[in-house]
Amino acid sequence: MEKIFHDTVALDEERRQLVIIDQTLLPNEEKHLALDREEEIIEAIQKLRVRGAPAIGVAAAIGLYVCAYRVPERDAVQWCMRIHEIGDRIAHARPTAVNLSWAVERMLRVLDHSADSGIAQALSALHDEACRIRDEDIDTCARIGENGAALIRDGAGLLTHCNAGRLAAVRYGTALAPIYRAAEQGKRLKVYADETRPLLQGARLTAYELSDAGIDTTLLCDNMAASLMAQGKIDAVFVGCDRVAANGDAANKIGTLGVAILAKHFGVPFYVCAPTSTIDLSCPRGEKIVIEERAPSEVTYLWYSQPMAPDGIHVYNPAFDVTPHELITAIVTEKGVWRDYSRIPQLV
Ligand code: MRU
Repeated sequence: MEKIFHDTVALDEERRQLVIIDQTLLPNEEKHLALDREEEIIEAIQKLRVRGAPAIGVAAAIGLYVCAYRVPERDAVQWCMRIHEIGDRIAHARPTAVNLSWAVERMLRVLDHSADSGIAQALSALHDEACRIRDEDIDTCARIGENGAALIRDGAGLLTHCNAGRLAAVRYGTALAPIYRAAEQGKRLKVYADETRPLLQGARLTAYELSDAGIDTTLLCDNMAASLMAQGKIDAVFVGCDRVAANGDAANKIGTLGVAILAKHFGVPFYVCAPTSTIDLSCPRGEKIVIEERAPSEVTYLWYSQPMAPDGIHVYNPAFDVTPHELITAIVTEKGVWRDYSRIPQLV
């Protein structure tokens, strides 16, 4: 498909399709996919063609709308039930990022409120809600950028883990938004990107998008972060987040916890950036967050030209870990910089 969509997740209004960048092909190819079937939308989320908490929330919302548009309109009650079914399946495509179920719940609430006015009206309400969720993401990330940039000094060395940039949201990202904003403000920055084993979101995506934006970026293997901090090269860590529990514990890409422990050891501020839609007050603390487990093959050979482990070896491959709130200096949201976790309920 021709490169006409610049956002990571978009709605093609004319064809009524969900348009995403296939992130499994980056950094070698920037290819857009146009999706309109339930199965292919779920596959795209599970295979990480679209990934990152905010991006999968927006993809779920637009995806549900484009599927709803194609549900046969024989009977209004059946029509609604079918859309609920599709929504339920999309919401369960991945377990950890709360944005997925949050977006689907918003869409289904709108459907239930508008269903009595007829199918055409309900479809138009679903369209508008999906666009609202997309536009809110753009606005929210821009605000996170503004709030987070205030924490960055001119000349800073910054470390990030995974990809929480434009490829993880619609346009600016969460943890990289402050970096983009600080660079726009003329601050000189040196950004270090953990490669992020095993799926290499740092190497394939963060290094790609930051260098594309002209930001001084250095890639490192995850186990090299300690030596950088020991040399005093890191002034702050910025990471994204998939779910914040009510006590401020935060789940993010596997390896984040290790970086937070290192940051504590070396006295480096550790900032978690997230929209308030990532805060899940129904989850009291981090240990209750469901952690996705992924296929062993992602560790043993996915990115290698030859297998890099013995055939059939047992593999431990959780996709996320939880950083306890004691290790988080502040949570940066669209509403401000929160250092006091007892105030988290007031955020949502
Ligand atoms: O498995 P992924 O690539 O979807 O994991 C993404 C992350 O862990 C991000 O850091 C998180 O979603 C925040 S994105 C703004």
